[in-house]
Amino acid sequence: MIELRDIHKAFGDNQVLRGVNLTVGTGESMVIIGGSGTGKSVLLKCILGLVTPDRGEILIDGAPLSADRRETFLTRFGMLFQGGALFDSLTVWQNVSFRMLHGREKRPGEEARDIAIGKLRRVGLKAEVADLYPAELSGGMQKRVGLARAIATDPQVIFFDEPTTGLDPIMAGVINDLIREIVSEMGATAMTITHDMTSVRAIADKVAMLHEGVIRWCGPVETLEDSGNPYVDQFIHGRPDGPIAALR
Ligand SMILES: Nc1ncnc2c1ncn2[C@@H]1O[C@H](COP(=O)(O)OP(=O)(O)O)[C@@H](O)[C@H]1O
Ligand SMILES: [Mg+2]
Repeated sequence: MIELRDIHKAFGDNQVLRGVNLTVGTGESMVIIGGSGTGKSVLLKCILGLVTPDRGEILIDGAPLSADRRETFLTRFGMLFQGGALFDSLTVWQNVSFRMLHGREKRPGEEARDIAIGKLRRVGLKAEVADLYPAELSGGMQKRVGLARAIATDPQVIFFDEPTTGLDPIMAGVINDLIREIVSEMGATAMTITHDMTSVRAIADKVAMLHEGVIRWCGPVETLEDSGNPYVDQFIHGRPDGPIAALR
């Protein structure tokens, strides 16, 4: 469904992506791991068209993602942003239904509100929160609202950028389980970026490790423990010593 071929991206002298190759199959849940600042978010932004790669190709359903195909692709995707990124001047339901209110395929307000309430229920929130503002919610509730927004239009592809960052371990577990359930029941293709190993084990079918601008290893989550890859081993066990320099 998504194929990245030799993606390069630099910001000035900072060579962030140095030839990323990665394939994500339809209905697969791919989790990309890697240290902070290794370019995980940049990689996601390349797919979304928020960042233009210097070199390389992105294929969706086997065909290159041209500017006009990207428009169509973007109507099929949902995204949970790092930090939630809710609009603080909009109520919860207006956040969840944002695309239905402002996007290409507009829906009447009543209908958009009903859909929002349905999605809020799906992520474990009561209808009463629909009319609150993001600032009135706890961090865990905000994450749930972000998740409800990501699935509001029943997307075929969902991106999750650091879905558990900033949450306590129990809430992180709840969000991980929700993501897994929702992705499975929707049959969606998912790409998650994280440095949280609990998320990896809860969400992934496959794992890819990004380090120094390339994918060092990619394989099924079951093989993560005995990958035989020194980068993966160091990362998943959080060892200060190994091929990954701790001083960054
Ligand atoms: N728009 C930008 N302009 C300049 N540098 C950027 C930009 N976006 C990201 N970077 C740099 O790219 C590197 C990778 O960033 P990022 O993808 O956010 O890392 P992470 O793996 O933590 O998500 C960092 O060194 C960051 O400073
Ligand atoms: Mg990031």
